[in-house]
This record gives sequence, structure tokens and C-alpha cells, in this order.
Amino acid sequence: MPRCSTSRWGSGQPAICPNTAYPNPEPTMTLTELMDTLPYGPAPEAAQPALDWLKAHEGRFRLFIGGKWRDPAQPEWFATHNPANGQPLAEVAQAGAADVDEAVKAARKALAGWQQTPGHLRARYLYALARQVQKHARLFAVLETLDNGKPIRETRDIDIPLVARHFYYHAGWAQLMESELPGYVPVGVVGQIIPWNFPLLMLAWKIAPALAMGNTVVLKPAEFTPLTALLFAEICQKVGLPPGVVNILTGDGSTGAALVAHPGVDKIAFTGSTEVGRLIRKATAGSGKKLSLELGGKSPFLVFEDADLDSAVEGVVDAIWFNQGQVCCAGSRLLVQEGIAEKMYAKLRARMEKLRCGDPLDKAVDLGAIVSPVQLQKIQRLVQKGVEEGAELWQPSWAVPSQGCFYPPTLFTQVAPASTIAQEEIFGPVLAALTFRTPEEAVRLANNTRYGLAASIWSEDINLALDVATQIKAGTIWINSTNLFDAASGFGGYKESGFGREGGKEGLWEYVRKAERPGPKAQSRKTKASSKARETASLQPVATSLRPAIDRTAKLFIGGKQTRPDSGYSQAVYGPDGRLVGEVGLGNRKDIRNAVEAARAAFEGWRKATAHHKAQILYFLAENLSERAEEFARRLQEQTGEDGGAEVEAALEALFAAAAWADKYEGVVHPTPIRNVTLALPEPVGVLGILCPDDKPLLALAKLAGTALAMGNTLVVVPSPAAPLSATDFYQVLETSDIPPGTFNIVTGERDELAKTLAEHDDVDAVWYAGPQAGHALVERASAGNMKRTWTLPERGALPDTDEILRQATQIKNIWVPYGA
Ligand code: NAI
Ligand code: MG
Repeated sequence: MPRCSTSRWGSGQPAICPNTAYPNPEPTMTLTELMDTLPYGPAPEAAQPALDWLKAHEGRFRLFIGGKWRDPAQPEWFATHNPANGQPLAEVAQAGAADVDEAVKAARKALAGWQQTPGHLRARYLYALARQVQKHARLFAVLETLDNGKPIRETRDIDIPLVARHFYYHAGWAQLMESELPGYVPVGVVGQIIPWNFPLLMLAWKIAPALAMGNTVVLKPAEFTPLTALLFAEICQKVGLPPGVVNILTGDGSTGAALVAHPGVDKIAFTGSTEVGRLIRKATAGSGKKLSLELGGKSPFLVFEDADLDSAVEGVVDAIWFNQGQVCCAGSRLLVQEGIAEKMYAKLRARMEKLRCGDPLDKAVDLGAIVSPVQLQKIQRLVQKGVEEGAELWQPSWAVPSQGCFYPPTLFTQVAPASTIAQEEIFGPVLAALTFRTPEEAVRLANNTRYGLAASIWSEDINLALDVATQIKAGTIWINSTNLFDAASGFGGYKESGFGREGGKEGLWEYVRKAERPGPKAQSRKTKASSKARETASLQPVATSLRPAIDRTAKLFIGGKQTRPDSGYSQAVYGPDGRLVGEVGLGNRKDIRNAVEAARAAFEGWRKATAHHKAQILYFLAENLSERAEEFARRLQEQTGEDGGAEVEAALEALFAAAAWADKYEGVVHPTPIRNVTLALPEPVGVLGILCPDDKPLLALAKLAGTALAMGNTLVVVPSPAAPLSATDFYQVLETSDIPPGTFNIVTGERDELAKTLAEHDDVDAVWYAGPQAGHALVERASAGNMKRTWTLPERGALPDTDEILRQATQIKNIWVPYGA
């Protein structure tokens, strides 16, 4: 017997007549009275086309797998509702693990064919999808509004046009992939899990780049809003997309979890809550699955005293009342300069009084319904908490419809920076206002959050605005604007807002990987390297008869000084012939904490140092290393038994390359379609932990650490435990260069123990780990605390190419700067 569960919704939601919120004006009113009050009449968009579509499916939808509609293996169904009136709209299938398996198989089967489909043909499919979205724009908009509760004005003018734009834009990347991303191939089968706040738009953000790059997908829409994804599946059929390229599975969190756990999935792309993002990070740890996460936010909206206040007020309306505030990048923290705060609040209250909340299908409505009773309760609970914590609440005098899921626009003032409503994502139409005195304080308050998705800055002084923009830790910054989106600009978070970008060229990297190097080319590289080695060897003859080393125990290098390990212990290092070649300090948690502290203290200074300065320091490191080339070569040979001279040469070259990139790794200006420059700037990730591979210990150090430094990161480096002495010898190179203390710290010891401490540390922004497979899982799981970025590499083998290292060493910040007199 099929089970129909409506439990997600809650019980006893009576129906309301959608148009009762706005009675017609009194018939006896005079024209003057009418002009004074100007009440709105209802201007409803007809729901009929969408209702007809639902009816044509008899109110029930199956799973879209391998190009066909199928019943779920277990006969389970659940209802999706219209949050504006609580009425069920349709039943959809609850996909279980067996269905996930079928869908992944279908996607796998389709992969080879899709991947080999020439870019131009994939572009044609994407173009066809874009066109079909446009042709069915009205049906999509109405269906989205019915299922989600957001105003028709938004679905019609924002969501659906942006969906079409995303497919157009990525049709272009399909066309250009071969020429613009040479050497890259699709990741494979991608599992995509999306939230309910922008159902079709998030589908487009996920599916368009994946398909453009030749991947096949299994997508799970959110349980509250599955309908437009199902309509999209029909469009895929209509344009003749090969079966299995797109599969749509409806279901709840358990379906999502099964997709995440499926071994046949090569990558997971997720948008949703930070809690679930963290679960997914842990569930995929060590699986080798590529992962991108777009999570929550508590984005600041900064208003400086020279801002155009009326524009800023309109900005706030878009920032926090767009989509009822259920927006990951909602400007939910208003930070106002003290002198203008009261004036701003007064203007804001007057504007709030005029907002209209009601039937989402009414074209003159500003705020629609909250997506579900559970979300409404969450908002009510957090508002209650705000009141209890002493903030001052203000809501307009008018009432929201009493039936359906509605919540009025809400302003909190007198909010303490550490209070719940200033820290927690409310995901509702609730604004928390705080004041600041100076730009420095504004930046501190703006960054006083575990999130880093977006920020808006309002000031007529472009110097001030850009200065603040570079200091705020967030993936998107809007100057004198807010909530602007476009396919050409990347979107994604810093800190606990997640990692990876969607949109722009930067978003494509999530859906590609380096092709395995073809045999002959690899061969020629090798020959080249060894002929160079021979050349070097003849230039700098290295003593092959190894003399016994003078007993010496290397210390750690923290904050620019050689320091004894906290444990007081050391670790022996043996050469390949089993001979003792030296000893290094055995670092522990405390040493790592000290090193992280030093790296953090050095970060701002190093980040702000000019690229030219960073390059000079890297050249200087190379110069100092070359002075000791012979000593380093000998040491390498002792530790690895390989040609040390060649490796020193390669390390010098790597340092030169890092120096070269320091002032050449450029951002771009995205051509977004308003009068606007969108600056995509690569910024350092922050404090990086690097655990070095065993092969080529000096080269790895120079290449990984050198590139990371060039991009403005500060480092805690753990040398390969197999050959740490080249790193400890490097102290002298560091000491004789002008590298600021704390920029480059080195801690020797047990790799996995130190890796765990680094991955768990909340003040570390990313960990690069080269080591055995078990360590990959350890690092990825431990990183879930502050959702730091991780990059895992094999313990042996070729080092990654510089373009990959550069991308890992940076995160893109998009700064939108509109212009117009
Ligand atoms: P959620 O994170 O639970 O749901 C997002 C998606 O993940 C849905 O498709 C859901 O079915 C799926 N999911 C749930 N548990 C999963 C699991 N264990 N493994 C894999 N997939 C899973 O978000 P929810 O419950 O809808 O909303 C809760 C809160 O999350 C909201 O109040 C809001 O604060 C935040 N949120 C943030 C979003 C954003 O865009 N940053 C979007 C939606 C919610
Ligand atoms: Mg719904």
C-alpha cells in the first residue's frame, strides 16, 4: 500500500482564499480620498497553467532515471505543499537507496558518451535547455511560486531569467572547454543536493556547469520544493538529452545521505545548511570524492555616514526581504555608522510600514510566504530569543495573513555583537542592526562571524569602500548594491560558508580534473628531467662517498626562531641504506599551536605586502639556497639515495616560478550584465598547514610552500617524516632571507598526529596533506570543525602542476562595483 506522508509539513493547515488579504477600497471613497490612501487592488497571476500541469500528472510524480519515469523501489510518496495556504499540491516519490543506485548506474552508463560528445554539441543541448526554460518561463515561475511561496515578481523577474542565463552562459563554456581548459577532463558522475530557497535556480547552478564540462548528474531537489525540478526533467526529455545525463531523484535528507554515500559518485555538490554540509564533509572523508559546499551566512550590510541613505534603505529591502530573507547571502546584519543610525532606522521603519506581504501570486506583493511551518517556527523561536536577550524589536503596524506561513518584516536594534540573533543564521525576514564608529571597527564587526559568504558596503567614497572590501572575509562583496547575481561571476564562501565557487570560469574547476598524463609525454618529461640532472651533476659534482654526519639534532622553526620541541624528544632519520643521517625534533600539538599562532600573527602583514615584495623574498630564498646547493644536494642524497644536485636545481626553479607568479596570478573582470565591473580577485586562503610528500623532499617544500607564500598565505609546514632534514637545513636559508618571522614555520614529527592537530585547529584555513590514504580520511574528517579547505595528495609520485597549486593557494573574492552618474 503506498504511503503518503505529510508529516514534514505539520498538520491542520486550513486553506485560505489567496486574495482575502487586500479587500477592495470602499466603494464610496472620493477620488481625493483614494489618492490619499492608494490601497492596492489584487493583481494575481493566474495559477491555472501550473494547476493544469499538476492535474495532467494526476497529482503524482515518479523518479526520473535514465531518461524514463519510474516508480520508487519502495512505494513511498510524500506531499509537497503551497506554503501560502497549506494546501497539498502534488505527491512525489521518496527515493530510497535502491533508487539512488539505479540513478547512479544510469549516470555512469551515460558518462562515456556524454564526455565524448564534442563541446559544440553539448553547447547545443545547453542552448536548447536555456531556450526551453525561456519558452516555459511563465509556467516555471508560477509553479515555483506555488511550491515555494516566494513572490511571483521574484520568480518571474529574477529566478527564472537567471536560470536561462545560467544555461546560456555554460553553453558557451561547453563550446570553449577544449580550447580554454586543455588537459582537463570531467570529474565523472556528480551527485547534487539542493535547498528549497531557490529551487530551480540552484538546479541550474549545479546542472549547467556539470553538463558543460561533460559530467553526468544525479540531482536531489529539496523536499519542500521538488516540482520545478520535475518540470525541468520533462524539458530534458523534450530536447532529447541523452538518457542518464540528468537524473532527478525526489526525497528527503535520507535520499541525500544515500547519494553522498554511494561509491559510484565521483563528486558531491551541495547547497544548504552548514550542519548538513558538515555531515557531508565527514561522510565523504577519505572517499576521494571531490566536494563543493555552499553553506550558510550571516552577511554584513555596512552603511557608512557618507552613504546615500535612501539608496541604502532600498538596498536593505533587497538584502533582507528578498525571498522573505531565506537567502544564504541575505544581508542579515545591518552595521551602521553611529552618527546616522537613528536617521537610518527611521527611514527603514517608514519603508517597512509600506512593504506588502501576502498572496505570493499577487504581482504587487513584496513578501510572500515562508517555505514551511518548521521554518516559520525557527524564525519565531530566534526572534523570541532576540527579545529575551534584550534587543529592541520593531515590526510594522499591519498584520500578515493569519493563515498560511507568513512572517512580517522585522527590525532589531540595540543588538549585542555576541547575541544569538547577531551570530545565528535566521533565514527569515529579520534584520539585526548594530552600530560602529570607525571603518576599523566596521571591519572587525563584519568579520565577527563564523561565516563568510557575502557583504554589502554603502559609501559614496570609493576609496573607503574598496579598502573595506579587501578586508572583509567573504566570497562576494557588493559595493552600493546587494544580492546581484550572474552566471559570469563566481559565488561561494570563505570560512564556514563553505568552499568552491559556482559561476564564472572559477566555478568550472569544480567539475573538471586533470587528465592522466599520456604515456609518451610523461616519458619525454622524464628524459628531460634526467638529462637536466646529468647536466647539473656534471656542473656540481656531488660527493658520492658519504662522510658520516656530525651529530646534530635539528630544532623546530617557529616565529622566525629555532625552538626546541615541547616534548623534548627527537626522532632519528635514516637513509635508504639504513644509516642514521640525523635527528629532528619530535613536534607535538603544542608546537603546532604555537606555529599556528605565529602564522596567524604574521598573516595580515604578509597578505598586505606587495606582490613585488613577496617575489623579491622568494628570489632571495632561491639565491640563499643556491649558495648552499652542494650541502643541500649531499643531504638529499643521504636521505633519498637519489641525485641531490638535480633536485636542488629543480627546487631553485620552483622558487623562481613561485616568485614569477607572485605578481602575475591575476584576477579578471567578469562581464556581468549591468553597468558594473565585477572584480574577481584571487586572495590568499590564510593560514595553511602543509604536510609534505616523501618524494623529492626539497622540491616539494620549494614548490608547495613557495607557491603558497607567493599567494600571500602564511604557513605551518610539516616536512616529510622520511626525509625531513632538507627542511630543517632550510632554516638557515630562511634566517638569512628577509622573510618576516612567523610567515614560514616548520614543525617536524609524526605526520598524522600533526596533521590531525592542524586539521582540527579552528585558526587554520586550509590543510594540504600528502600521505597515505588513511591520512586523507583523517584530515578530511577532522577539517569539518571550521569547514576548512583540504587538499589531499599521494605520499609519493609527481607533484601537482603549478596551476593547481595556485588555485589551491587562493580563493576568489568577487567585488561588484556598479557605476553610473
Ligand atoms: P538542509 O541543509 O537540511 O537541506 C538542504 C538539502 O540537503 C535538502 O535537499 C535536504 O533534503 C538535504 N539533506 C538533508 N540532510 C541531508 C543529509 N544528511 N545528507 C545529504 N543531504 C541532506 O536545510 P533545511 O533543513 O531545509 O533548512 C534548515 C536551515 O538550513 C535553514 O533554516 C537555513 O538556516 C539553512 N539553509 C541554508 C541554505 C543556504 O542556501 N545556505 C539553504 C537552505 C537552508
Ligand atoms: Mg512546497
